[in-house]
Amino acid sequence: MRARSGAGPRRPRRPDPMIHGLIARLFGDARPPTVEPAALADARRLAQLHAASFHRGWGTGEFEQLLIDRNVLIHRLRHKNHVIGFAVSRCAADEAEILSVAIDPRQRGRGLSRPLLLSHLGHLAGHGVARVFLEVEENNEPARRLYEHAGFAVVGRREGYYRASAGPALNALVMRRDLS
Ligand SMILES: CC(C)(COP(=O)(O)OP(=O)(O)OC[C@H]1O[C@@H](n2cnc3c(N)ncnc32)[C@H](O)[C@@H]1OP(=O)(O)O)[C@@H](O)C(=O)NCCC(=O)NCCS
Repeated sequence: MRARSGAGPRRPRRPDPMIHGLIARLFGDARPPTVEPAALADARRLAQLHAASFHRGWGTGEFEQLLIDRNVLIHRLRHKNHVIGFAVSRCAADEAEILSVAIDPRQRGRGLSRPLLLSHLGHLAGHGVARVFLEVEENNEPARRLYEHAGFAVVGRREGYYRASAGPALNALVMRRDLS
């Protein structure tokens, strides 16, 4: 079939990029961040986010290893062209352990971690995972609230589990959520 030409119905006009840019500057970009599988090319950015979030950051090489591991699921939280968070889990049979969840320090406290975690859990369920475990530092209030509101319950406590070079050893809580 030939492409239409000449005096057919007029195509809808694309929004003028200048007007679009002006609206975005005046009112901000209201598009919510997207949760999607992370790619190998994200390894460096994920390592940056991890280093900004944890005392012992994982390097780019460690993320590259995780990203090619078939038993590891990593989702990134992307806003426009920026990766602003991630969630990492390792699966074994029908169980998974959440290894890490982090949000860019500049983006915290905006409720972004919940959709990231819930979407990540949905993908784990889609991979046949029935039970999810994680460890969280007892005094990490934002993380505990995040996990509790996502349906995790405390099933264990590890005294003095986190040993920093300075300061006292900190306790870990083991949390669990069933997905089925
Ligand atoms: C834990 C973390 C992912 C939460 O991300 P976030 O997007 O800032 O969290 P949210 O804005 O979605 O808030 C989650 C909950 O924590 C609460 N919260 C947020 N900041 C808080 C703070 N500074 N103190 C206490 N509670 C806080 C929120 O009110 C919310 O609880 P609610 O549902 O009862 O209202 C983020 O703080 C982070 O990256 N921390 C460093 C890495 C880390 O500790 N990861 C978790 C262990 S693996």
